[in-house]
Amino acid sequence: MRVGLGVTGGIAAYKAAELLRCLQEDGLEVQVIMTRAAREFVTPLTFEALSGHKVITDLFPSSAPGAGATAAEGNAQEKIQAEPNTESAIEHIAVAQSIEALVIAPATADVLAKMAHGLADDFLTTVYLATRAPVIVAPAMNINMWRHEATQANIAILRQRGVKIIEPESGYLACGMTGAGRLAAIENIARAVRETLGMRRDLENETLLVTAGPTYEPIDLVRHLSNRSSGKMGYALAEAARRRGARVLLVSGPTHLVPPQGVEVERVKTSDEMADAVLNRLATVSIVIMAAAVADYQPASVIQGKIKKNSRPLSLELKPTRDILAEIAERRQPRQLVVGFAAESDHLLENAAEKMRAKRTDLMVANDITQEGAGFDGDTNIITLLFPDGRAKSFEKMSKFQAANHVLDELVELRKTVAQTGIFTSPQS
Ligand SMILES: Cc1cc2nc3c(=O)[nH]c(=O)nc-3n(C[C@H](O)[C@H](O)[C@H](O)COP(=O)(O)O)c2cc1C
Repeated sequence: MRVGLGVTGGIAAYKAAELLRCLQEDGLEVQVIMTRAAREFVTPLTFEALSGHKVITDLFPSSAPGAGATAAEGNAQEKIQAEPNTESAIEHIAVAQSIEALVIAPATADVLAKMAHGLADDFLTTVYLATRAPVIVAPAMNINMWRHEATQANIAILRQRGVKIIEPESGYLACGMTGAGRLAAIENIARAVRETLGMRRDLENETLLVTAGPTYEPIDLVRHLSNRSSGKMGYALAEAARRRGARVLLVSGPTHLVPPQGVEVERVKTSDEMADAVLNRLATVSIVIMAAAVADYQPASVIQGKIKKNSRPLSLELKPTRDILAEIAERRQPRQLVVGFAAESDHLLENAAEKMRAKRTDLMVANDITQEGAGFDGDTNIITLLFPDGRAKSFEKMSKFQAANHVLDELVELRKTVAQTGIFTSPQS
C-alpha cells in the first residue's frame, strides 16, 4: 500500500523521518511531499535516502529563476531538483490517485489554513484537494498559534470534512514556551495511519522466531549438500508478522533475500548452527515457526581439504541431522505455540499429519511440492493447514505473503483459545 507523507515547514519536520521509518516498518510504500518551507528545515535527500523514492518538492518542473521565482529561490530549486521532474505534468493527479492515505506531519498553521480554505498553490495542497484517500494531519506549532481562533476554526472545518486530526501534545516547545503544540508521538500518528488503512496489529504482544531458507551441510572445504529452498516463505512470514506488530527474530539459512525492515536476523549456514540459534532463543519467544528447509542428513564426517577427482565412484556416508522440532517439543514452555512445515511429494496429508503428531506442533503447514506454484523457489504457495484436532484447511494458490497471513490468522485464533481455556488444542498439553 502506498501512502503520501506531507512534510511542512515547522521545527518538527525532522521528526517526519522517524514517522517515515515507522510507516515503512508497517510495510507501506511512502511518497514524501515537502513544502518549500519544509526544505528550510530538512533536506529532501534525507527522505529520498530513507524512502528510496524521489521526494516531490514542486508543482511545476521548470520553475527557473525569472519564472516567478527569485534568483536565490531558483538556485535552491536547482539544488533540490538536481534531476528535473520528468514525470507526467499532472503528477499531482497521479499521486493523488495512487495513494491509500495522505498523512501530513508536521502540519503547520499555514497548511491547515490552506487546506481549510481550498488553496492549492503547491504540490501538497494540490494533492490534498485532488485525492479521494483519507487524510490525517498532525499539527505542530507554537502554543499561541495552535490556540488562535483562526487555527482552531480551520481545525474544526477540517474535522467536519472528515480529516483525522492527531492533536498536538503538551510539553516544552521549541519556542521556549510550555503547553499544547508539540507534534504528537510518532507511534500515535503511525497507529492512526494503520487504523485508517484497516491494518491489523493483532500480534503486538508476541515474539516470533521464524526460520527460513536452506542449510548447507559441508562435504569438504568447498562443497556442501543443500536444497532448493529460497527462504521466501520464511521471509514472508517474518515480514507479515512484523507488520502485524510482532517482534520477530529471523534465523536464516543462506539466501540472497533482503531481510524485512524491523526484523532481527541471525544468519546461519549448517543445520547444527540453525539448531543452536533456535534452541538458544527458544525461552525468549512466544511463537516458533519452523519454515526453513533444514537438511535431514549431513555427511558423517567433513573431509579435510578438497576431494580430488579420479575415475572411481565415490560414496558419501550420511548421518541424520539434529531434529530441531523434536528438541523444541522437549523444551517448549506451556504458553509457546509451535508451527511446523511439511513439504511433501506424496501422501501429503498423511505424512504432514504424522509429522504434526510426532513433533507435537500446534499447526502444520503442508505443501505438495510436486504442484505447479507450490513449495520451493517461487513466489507462490499452495498450502493446507492441519490442526491437532483433525481439522484441515486448504487454500488455492496464492502469494507467499498471503499464505503467511493465513498462518498468522490461525495463530491469533489459537492464542485466543489458549487465553480463554488455558489449554492448547495440541496433544502435548
Ligand atoms: C524557525 C521557524 C520555525 C517555525 N516553526 C513552525 C512550526 O512549528 N509550526 C508552524 O505552523 N509554523 C512554523 N513556522 C512558520 C512556517 O514555516 C511558515 O508559516 C511557513 O510559511 C509554512 O509553510 P508551509 O505550510 O508551506 O510548510 C516556523 C518558521 C520558522 C522560521
